[in-house]
Amino acid sequence: MPDDIVITRCLKVDPRHPDPAVIAEAALVLRRGGLVAFPTETVYGLGVNALDAGAVTRLFAAKGRPADNPLIVHVAGRDMVFQLAGQVPEKAILLMNNFWPGPLTLVLPGGKGAPPEVTGGLDTVALRMPDHPVALALIRAAALSVAAPSANISGRPSPTTAAHVMSDLSGRIEIVLDGGPTGLGVESTVLDLTAPAPLVLRPGGVTLEDLRNVLGAVELHPDARALSGWSGRACSPGMKYTHYAPRAPLWLVEGGPEPVAVKIIELAREYRARGQRVGILSCSGREEFYSEGEVLQAGSRDDPAAVAVELYAVLRRFDELVVDVILAEGIKDEGIGLAVMNRLRKAAGRRLLKA
Ligand code: TXA
Ligand code: MG
Repeated sequence: MPDDIVITRCLKVDPRHPDPAVIAEAALVLRRGGLVAFPTETVYGLGVNALDAGAVTRLFAAKGRPADNPLIVHVAGRDMVFQLAGQVPEKAILLMNNFWPGPLTLVLPGGKGAPPEVTGGLDTVALRMPDHPVALALIRAAALSVAAPSANISGRPSPTTAAHVMSDLSGRIEIVLDGGPTGLGVESTVLDLTAPAPLVLRPGGVTLEDLRNVLGAVELHPDARALSGWSGRACSPGMKYTHYAPRAPLWLVEGGPEPVAVKIIELAREYRARGQRVGILSCSGREEFYSEGEVLQAGSRDDPAAVAVELYAVLRRFDELVVDVILAEGIKDEGIGLAVMNRLRKAAGRRLLKA
């Protein structure tokens, strides 16, 4: 818990043309070591001056984040990359040309730029240039590289609206810039360029297929599919922690459209017979299957991008409905569906079922 309580101001900004006066105010807070939440194209981030070790420590306290889980440093231009990375391989340049600004985080050899509080003591540094006018304006106005994890309490679903940020962090941070709901809904892809071959540590907004089109061979870390929970050495320290989880235990049921529904109906009956309040996470067009329980829909099964947009908001909505258990339908883990399934499997932990 942070040792000081602050009054959090939530300031509305136009997501496309943010008011320079509001941005300047938030930038000043960053320069003074404060904590500012802001929208990116993926989820809301909680920013601090990446070079201010004291501010970074306060950020970890505000989120309740384990100190060995390093932060992504957000930049507004390549100059900042060269200041922070010890080396910028050619593949990194190629990727920046293709995907920046955008939802791709590059793990590069560390330099002297980022303090160990940011890198978790690793000899690498994670960098990304977000594709959001508010995020870019803030970084530029502060003239700082900005370390920013997702703006949620550690372990909770990431925030896709300013209201989500306020519900987790009000009283712990100085400012939330409210630029409306974020576009993609899941976080950036984390790609390790210090491994023998480019290695996706966390699937996200830039798909594996997109990366292979540009780089050729790209590997996927076995934990990125998160099929068996946490195993072995964590390349990305964040991989070993419970993540993205709503308050109620979540069972993830994977399989064809019909068998999944049959299994969920069966489980729902069992839970209800024990007097439990059941939440069902389904997709649109499947209303006919479920007649009982709190049924929420995120996107449609054929459109994983739409599922991504709504996923975290729906998980948080189950908290408000105070369900005892959540039964979630899996989707195909291809394209951005891989990121959706990575988050759902992590939220489920070991509660994975095949229908
Ligand atoms: O879309 C996003 O990436 C959002 C927005 C705010 O930019 N940020 C975000 O940050 O998701 P966070 O802290 O929730 O997740 C960062 C992930 C963690 O899994 C962390 O372990 C990994 O990136 N990471 C950071 N630095 C790393 C490094 N040097 N090596 C390997 N993994 C690293
Ligand atoms: Mg996070």
